[in-house]
Amino acid sequence: MFGFSARMGTAERVETALDGTLNPFNKQPYSKQYRGILRNRKELPVYAQMTGFYDMLTRNQIMIVVGETGSGKTTQIPQLVCHLDVPHSRGKMVACTQPRRIAATSVAKRVADEMDFTLGKEVGYSVRFDDMTEPGTTFLKYMTDGMLLREAMSDPDLSRYSTLILDEAHERTLATDILMGLLKGVTKRRPDLRLIITSATLDTHKFQQYFGTDEYSLAPLFVIQGRTHPVEVIHVQEQKTDYTAAAISEVLRIHRVEGEGDILLFLTGQEEIERACKRIKKGVQDLLKQNPNAVGPLVCIPLYASLDAEQQERIFDPPPPRRNTGGLAGRKVVVSTNIAETSTTVDGIVYVVDSGVSKQSIYNPRIRIQSLSVSPISKASAKQRAGRAGRTKPGKCFRLYTEKEFNAFEGQDLPGILRSNLESTVLALVKIGTKDPVRFDYIDSPAPEALLRASETLNYLGALDNDGDLTILGRTMAELPLDPQLAKALVVSPEFGCSKEILAIVSMLSVPNVWLRPTDKRIEADEARASLTIPGGDHLSLLNVYDSWVQNSRDPNWSWNNYVSQRSLLEAEQARRQLESLMIRFGIKLVSAGKGSGLHDRVREALTCGFFMQVAHKEGRAYFTVKDNHEVFIHPSCGLDDRPEWVLYNEFVLTSRPFIRTVTAIDPEWLLREAESYYDIDSWNDGEAKYSLMRTRNTLPTQRSGRLPKRVKDNAIGEA
Ligand code: CDP
Ligand code: MG
Repeated sequence: MFGFSARMGTAERVETALDGTLNPFNKQPYSKQYRGILRNRKELPVYAQMTGFYDMLTRNQIMIVVGETGSGKTTQIPQLVCHLDVPHSRGKMVACTQPRRIAATSVAKRVADEMDFTLGKEVGYSVRFDDMTEPGTTFLKYMTDGMLLREAMSDPDLSRYSTLILDEAHERTLATDILMGLLKGVTKRRPDLRLIITSATLDTHKFQQYFGTDEYSLAPLFVIQGRTHPVEVIHVQEQKTDYTAAAISEVLRIHRVEGEGDILLFLTGQEEIERACKRIKKGVQDLLKQNPNAVGPLVCIPLYASLDAEQQERIFDPPPPRRNTGGLAGRKVVVSTNIAETSTTVDGIVYVVDSGVSKQSIYNPRIRIQSLSVSPISKASAKQRAGRAGRTKPGKCFRLYTEKEFNAFEGQDLPGILRSNLESTVLALVKIGTKDPVRFDYIDSPAPEALLRASETLNYLGALDNDGDLTILGRTMAELPLDPQLAKALVVSPEFGCSKEILAIVSMLSVPNVWLRPTDKRIEADEARASLTIPGGDHLSLLNVYDSWVQNSRDPNWSWNNYVSQRSLLEAEQARRQLESLMIRFGIKLVSAGKGSGLHDRVREALTCGFFMQVAHKEGRAYFTVKDNHEVFIHPSCGLDDRPEWVLYNEFVLTSRPFIRTVTAIDPEWLLREAESYYDIDSWNDGEAKYSLMRTRNTLPTQRSGRLPKRVKDNAIGEA
């Protein structure tokens, strides 16, 4: 079947190899550390079922694997596949995708240790702007789903791989969903490619159906029998108004009265988590002040996606030791976003405190608005969260919501594809060769309107022509791992003589926020920020931070003294380097000219070429987005010192209010010149924005054709 022959006794062979003295992949003797880890690995449920796993794997091209969080799907299955594929002997690789960057990097590190290799050699990872692989050597690669999608854009058959594992498919991220559709096609063209879809939740029927060979058959399912322990679920009796306060007092209550075992608390985001950790620590100190023997030692460990791998490793630390022999047991409290729901296993958890909420982002394509809000989780999430308590022994889950509230939760979370901006996806699909993104074989189809809106935006940006085909500009934009708006600004920037500056700005916008504002140092941080601020706009200030940092020899002390994140700057540097090599490869000239306000104008005009659809106009005291006419507020973090009539913004977020963030003043003349078809103001409804643009137009010189002189042409690229 599919060109594979069922080899007898693969499981036995692999077991012998694992217990042997030489690493079968490089014939080197195993280290002592290897044996230590092997003992733990053998305890994982997937081990007991190796024979069945290999049996199904050798007989099928596509299989679905389901197993409880912590059963060994992410760390073990790719290794088992390597033993069968022996990919390096054929010059191929095995890849395993992860929805989150942090999962890809940390699990690659873990698996490199498990296989007794150095990370970045035989086992590596690839995430945006950070590639830890060695061509020719790496045969097992962990990567984000977004990176694999990117690879599919230049190699639609993914010919470098022998097996692809789409891990955490239950999370239904946008990239994983698109990959499922693409790979369904690739497996038909490439009978030698194997595909494994793994999920931590039991509702795999949809995947089985989608990957069935015809509409009546189901793709085979491999179930890893987890050893889970019962979890007692306890709801609050009365609805809580402040879930963080309730969560903190619940953690302290558990620490005082419940038996030994670590706690996992689910909250929603970085700031809230850091604050909760502080308050829990303070609570423990207060208890100890009253009575030094009141409670055992406690450590609080935050867990969220933007932590670096090293910080994230802390969740694997053992709980703190007793203060003295016979003293009370120590306890570890992990305070996490929903990242600990399925993708990261924290061992030793006996108590789960579930706030019942998570931060969810929903994109509304009609008004092009992304809203980020703290919302009730789904029943499926609640069940996953409770399950975290029963991994090592029977546990308890304290839900900070009533049973009635629980009954009102949605059954499942909405898949990412139904609540995301689809512009990058449509660009990727067209690049891969999907002529009509509406007709793509989606596992859950987005609303046609969402796809049309995305195509329309790409058309305005000049990436797609009126037939929906890629333009030369679009082809280059698609090569850059950036949102289309940023890609457009970068591709056209040589026309404005400022591609080095735009490159730095784009890099700074691609990393976590650089501005630090510690709660106890707000005034100092704000002063430092003011001294780095350029009045013309936040984009220019970001450029200034980057340039100043480079001028100060990238000194971490400089960053520290100026309240900017050294880590973000280092990441921006890495992004800049990778984008620069792509610019060279695709003939986008690296130019920089002059200093001062002339340069600033050119930078802002180049940005306008990408962000002309993200523009707000001041009317009276308020700002309104152009065309959609939504009232928006400039985010307090913004550094503009006056209130310019026209601004462009990098993000629109609907939190407590509709905020625009990272805002820069622009000249309306640029809008008319660089985005003629979007600013065809004669067809606009009457209003202040239209009148203002008409006044601007009347002051401009026009060409004989009546059209405005246009600066940006397709030939901005390809001349290097
Ligand atoms: O993917 P799944 O949830 O099925 O499990 P996994 O991520 O493969 O984890 C299996 C075991 O490996 C867990 O019980 C963790 O204790 C351990 N592990 C670890 O010690 N360090 C890591 N960085 C990742 C996993
Ligand atoms: Mg996993």
